[in-house]
Amino acid sequence: MKVFLNSPIAENRLIARDTFLLRLPALELTSVARPGQFVNLYFNNPVHLFPRPFSIAGFEDDHMLILYKRVGKMTSYLSTLPIGTSLLLLGPLGNSFVVDRNYPVLLAGGVGLAPLAFLNQILNQEERPSTLILGARTAEDLPLFSAIGEPELVTENGSRGMTGNVLDYFSQLYPNLPKPFTVYACGPEAMLRAIIQMAQHLSFPVQVSLERVMACGLGLCQGCAVKIKTDNNTSGYKLVCKDGPVFNGMELSLND
Ligand SMILES: Cc1cc2nc3c(=O)[nH]c(=O)nc-3n(C[C@H](O)[C@H](O)[C@H](O)COP(=O)(O)OP(=O)(O)OC[C@H]3O[C@@H](n4cnc5c(N)ncnc54)[C@H](O)[C@@H]3O)c2cc1C
Ligand code: FES
Repeated sequence: MKVFLNSPIAENRLIARDTFLLRLPALELTSVARPGQFVNLYFNNPVHLFPRPFSIAGFEDDHMLILYKRVGKMTSYLSTLPIGTSLLLLGPLGNSFVVDRNYPVLLAGGVGLAPLAFLNQILNQEERPSTLILGARTAEDLPLFSAIGEPELVTENGSRGMTGNVLDYFSQLYPNLPKPFTVYACGPEAMLRAIIQMAQHLSFPVQVSLERVMACGLGLCQGCAVKIKTDNNTSGYKLVCKDGPVFNGMELSLND
């Protein structure tokens, strides 16, 4: 069940280039939120009328973690807010990853780490072995924080971990990964397109979390529609905020 919460910021810390870790008391969400779900943050400010969606990046001591990148108006404003500032949020929203019995492989591009950090936390609590690959452009862009443990790292310029991107690292690990495995991925859509193509080619299951631009975040404006394939080879649309943000990679048409 989703709830509105007024939550005072407990931490709002720069952890990588333009990337912040926000910690909010959210006792009401700890037992109900599932990995892949998100919250809408509202701002008591006429310039920021629409809420902004952020994946739940996990929980620590009844506090919810949010990992966010400063990209525009609201995230810039958010990054200036001091400890104690009250934020209005609504959540948990959307669907979640469907975790099967296959070996879990988590692929995270930049702040796409957020929903996978939560999934990783749950898998660790269940003592399930898994692989988490985190990629970014440079070492300064890697959103590292203690709750994610020690992921496999890859940077495009080779300044930390393997040189290349998340898909390069995954391709290298592929022959030695325990089979069958399921990939759970979040990051730039180019990365998600590439992993879906690979999954189609090599026949492994993939679930992706999409971070499309949203307006209402509640299924009212149709602003976050994504094209999907249907059983009879025609196409249709689903809403990222209501039907997602997690989709079976095989049903998505991300090229259009
Ligand atoms: C389900 C969901 C979960 C998300 N989880 C996270 C998260 O955990 N961490 C995080 O940092 N971000 C996340 N996002 C993206 C986040 O909501 C946007 O970055 C944020 O709304 C930008 O607000 P802004 O006012 O700063 O940017 P604006 O001023 O509104 O826009 C600035 C620029 O960013 C672009 N932009 C805005 N939103 C997005 C987007 N979703 N994807 C790509 N470009 C965008 C705009 O086109 C514009 O060019 C998520 C989005 C969705 C839909
Ligand atoms: S953002 Fe309005 S319908 Fe999804």
